[in-house]
Amino acid sequence: MRGISRTIVHFLVFIQIMCCVYFATNMIRHRQGYAIQYSDPDIPNRKYEGEFIKYDTKKYGSDFCVAYNVTRATGEFREDGLEPISLVLHATSHYMKEIEGQCSSRNWNGPISVSLFVDRTSSEAVEYLHEVHRCSSKVNQKLSLHIVYRMSPFQKVCDPIFVKRSLRKCNTFNATIRSRERSRVIPPFQIYPINVMRNVARKGALSSIHMTADVEMVFSEGFAVKMKALANKYINGKDKKLLVIRRFEVDNKAHVPVDHKELFVMIKAFRAFEFHHKFFAAGHTIESLWQWFRMSKNQTDAYAWQIDYKSSSWEAQLIMHRKDPYNPEYFPTRIRDQQSLVYELCRANYTFHLASHVFNVHRGVKTQETNLSSAVLTHQKRLRTRSYKRFMHYINSTYPDTFDQCGKFVM
Ligand SMILES: *[C@@H]1O[C@H](CO)[C@@H](O)[C@H](O)[C@H]1NC(C)=O
Ligand SMILES: *[C@@H]1O[C@H](CO)[C@@H](O)[C@H](O)[C@H]1NC(C)=O
Ligand SMILES: *[C@@H]1O[C@H](CO)[C@@H](O)[C@H](O)[C@H]1NC(C)=O
Ligand SMILES: *[C@@H]1O[C@H](CO)[C@@H](O)[C@H](O)[C@H]1NC(C)=O
Ligand SMILES: *[C@@H]1O[C@H](CO)[C@@H](O)[C@H](O)[C@H]1NC(C)=O
Ligand SMILES: *[C@@H]1O[C@H](CO)[C@@H](O)[C@H](O)[C@H]1NC(C)=O
Repeated sequence: MRGISRTIVHFLVFIQIMCCVYFATNMIRHRQGYAIQYSDPDIPNRKYEGEFIKYDTKKYGSDFCVAYNVTRATGEFREDGLEPISLVLHATSHYMKEIEGQCSSRNWNGPISVSLFVDRTSSEAVEYLHEVHRCSSKVNQKLSLHIVYRMSPFQKVCDPIFVKRSLRKCNTFNATIRSRERSRVIPPFQIYPINVMRNVARKGALSSIHMTADVEMVFSEGFAVKMKALANKYINGKDKKLLVIRRFEVDNKAHVPVDHKELFVMIKAFRAFEFHHKFFAAGHTIESLWQWFRMSKNQTDAYAWQIDYKSSSWEAQLIMHRKDPYNPEYFPTRIRDQQSLVYELCRANYTFHLASHVFNVHRGVKTQETNLSSAVLTHQKRLRTRSYKRFMHYINSTYPDTFDQCGKFVM
């Protein structure tokens, strides 16, 4: 009897070892790029299938499909016990280089969540950014990428996204090759669903504190780290506080100021300006610029003080919480698409707090609309009346008591 049970035990051990060997070889095969099917519990929507990585997409609203976490930031950014600020960006393939730039910059030492809008001609951008994420350690640490595409007429279910697995040696993926691959991708030519893109990027962010910005903005030195303690103090998901970040623009060829002292010198010399000062000043200028410089000079660490909501043309750049309201997705692109959120926040009784010291800068001074953006505007104007009615109905019924403190929403 004892002999038999010992044989059975040996046999079971043998089976166990064989299983380990089997799984180990499978892992190795997977690493080499040949595995059959294999999934990662952290990213349930990703599966390895032969030469491809398959990402399941989910229907988003009535018109879009989304795949979250097509790349995922591997960095934690929580060593100090604080919640990191996620930089929340949205883009088309036209801005692949800027996405890489934001991740490589030392100024954003924190997670970056990007939603990327693709269509047939630009879908190769997914493969490209996937490869950059695999090969560049900075991008690997910071970038979570989410893909959005518009459904075709009569399409009922969202199809998965396939990315070809790459066996390329990363040291051959150098700047020259990258630039060549980027230039091959033709950007989409259609109405960009800007508020869907903003919201997807927030929903996919790995932390609860969100700095929403345009992909071309260059941040002042050490922004994410300098703002971290302050953001943790103000943006806690309970107190309905928002941090407002000043933005500026410089000439295309000009040096980008790294801190408020350099900025001050450039502003005085008319080499830096408040954002869109020539084009849409009402939307962007925050009064008392000189006071802001004085306040920033006065202390070593960033702090903030309350300012008033300006008006329905105010396109404030905000740091906010995951639980705070999201942009209305039925809004037309380029018509009060961002201002509507700022107005809602005011009506929801949030308070606005201007941050000292830090800022961001746009390279190039905008003086007029491009022909493409005027075309978008012409198309989207047709949606103006119905989205205004829907928005006002929602706002007045949800926040009936705050009309006087925020004023009328003009669109
Ligand atoms: C993306 O990945 C993170 C980390 O694994 C996970 O917490 C999050 O739920 C994922 N997001 C979505 C929308 O699946
Ligand atoms: C990049 O790689 C290509 C091919 O491997 C090589 O021909 C080229 O010289 C490299 N460029 C740089 C700048 O290293
Ligand atoms: C500078 O700081 C000091 C002390 O902290 C304060 O009394 C003073 O009012 C501040 N000046 C400005 C311009 O904020
Ligand atoms: C808005 O917040 C203030 C405190 O900041 C409070 O006194 C006021 O009652 C709030 N108003 C509404 C309508 O909730
Ligand atoms: C925009 O269109 C006008 C004609 O309507 C043309 O003269 C101008 O050169 C175009 N601008 C650009 C940047 O293509
Ligand atoms: C919303 O409420 C304000 C003030 O109560 C009112 O003046 C405005 O006409 C309302 N707008 C709509 C669309 O109901």
